[in-house]
Amino acid sequence: MFLAFTATVAALTTACAGGTGGVEGTPGAAGLRDPYFPKAGNGGYDVTHYGLTLDVDPAGRQLRGTAVITARATQDLSAFNLDLAGMTVRSAEVEGHPAAVNRAAHELTLRPDAEVESRLHRGRTFRTVVHYSGHPLTLTDPDGSKEGWLRTADGSVALGEPVGAMAWFPGNNHPGDKASYDLTVTVPKGLTAVSNGELTARSTAGATTTYHWHTAAPMATYLATLAVGRFDTKTSTTPDGIKVFTAVDPKSAVASARTLARIPEIVKWEAARFGPYPFSSTGAIVDRTHDAGYALETQNRPFFPGPPDAGLLVHEMSHQWFGDSVTPGSWRDMWLNEGFATYAEWLWEADKEGVPVQESFDRAFGDDANWAFPPADPPTAADISKAPVYGHGAMVIHKIRQAVGDDKRFFALVAGWTKAHRHGNASTADFTAYTEKATGLDLTDLWDTWLYGRSRPATDD
Ligand code: TRP
Ligand code: ZN
Repeated sequence: MFLAFTATVAALTTACAGGTGGVEGTPGAAGLRDPYFPKAGNGGYDVTHYGLTLDVDPAGRQLRGTAVITARATQDLSAFNLDLAGMTVRSAEVEGHPAAVNRAAHELTLRPDAEVESRLHRGRTFRTVVHYSGHPLTLTDPDGSKEGWLRTADGSVALGEPVGAMAWFPGNNHPGDKASYDLTVTVPKGLTAVSNGELTARSTAGATTTYHWHTAAPMATYLATLAVGRFDTKTSTTPDGIKVFTAVDPKSAVASARTLARIPEIVKWEAARFGPYPFSSTGAIVDRTHDAGYALETQNRPFFPGPPDAGLLVHEMSHQWFGDSVTPGSWRDMWLNEGFATYAEWLWEADKEGVPVQESFDRAFGDDANWAFPPADPPTAADISKAPVYGHGAMVIHKIRQAVGDDKRFFALVAGWTKAHRHGNASTADFTAYTEKATGLDLTDLWDTWLYGRSRPATDD
């Protein structure tokens, strides 16, 4: 009681010192202190919606954009940051008033005018508009891989894991802040713009075509994508009513057709194990790019740098549950994405190819690369996509399955996990707590040995 009173006095004193009448706001933090990317994301607000209106030139080299960001203040704000790498910010507004713009590395700081600032109270929803243009950057990750804005054979693709989203739109670039999206993208006639969610409008006027993509379910910035180029597109609906949209580079069409035809089968097979498919649409984007040698679980429709095989499609599609719907709270929790996605591959190989899961486990157990560090504790940012996060992460899931014993109960546990954090975020601590509570087991030894342990046990049981 006394402490609360003191705090109130302090707050009043600060307000008076500010001299503007209202409670004096403070700047939002420049980062969310992610263990691997401390400057990624920003403090002081939560984004609820991104409205991006983008113009992409024929070669995919130039982007002109307007980002309308709807956010809720989580503190009284005097200024706040967005993440943006490169690009030129032409102007910005907060609540319709011009805002002062400052750039420093990947931090874009906006300072609203005094009138708007006096209204930016904690809990308040406010709108920010950023007008920007330029040549979007290809970023190089700590592990040397490329992300951000990548050139393809006939256009471009935006891939954002872990931090590349800031190359093509300003935002709160951390998986902890998910939002809905509307993208309105204008491209030269003859090219297609493909993104997440559903295509809700398309119109051609003169030499350009405009595509409108709507993503209603919360999406982390790293899962947003935009592919521009020539594509063969196909639309269908699964027997369960999920819309399927595939966009395939024409030169990859023949080689991709058989695998992509299995999307409904794979979604259904995964839903039977992981719980209901979490989104209203699915599909895939198959492009040609040497910049990205990897596939990515972009929300609704994963991206493939070339024709995928069924195992890779199973992996990326499983991320719709593990990563896209249930999103890591920080980049330390990557193993929850990749461990489950790798385990999905093992389950598929067992079911379709007769390779027992135990055999996949034994192979992973014997692979030294999986023991370089514990899956839940990569030593540096360059390690978050390394073998232990995948193969060792999958071993953790298998040990849980063995501890549960009964397969029906194990899959109910998994489906319960995706249900508990559907469209949200979860950390490793959330996962271990959930698993112990749901199974009623004390799994301390399992976590110590398999999740956090640094050395390989003498035996794999
Ligand atoms: N997360 C992706 C997947 O598992 C792969 C990936 C994205 C990746 N970026 C990377 C792998 C960088 C290595 C390096 O499907
Ligand atoms: Zn993966």
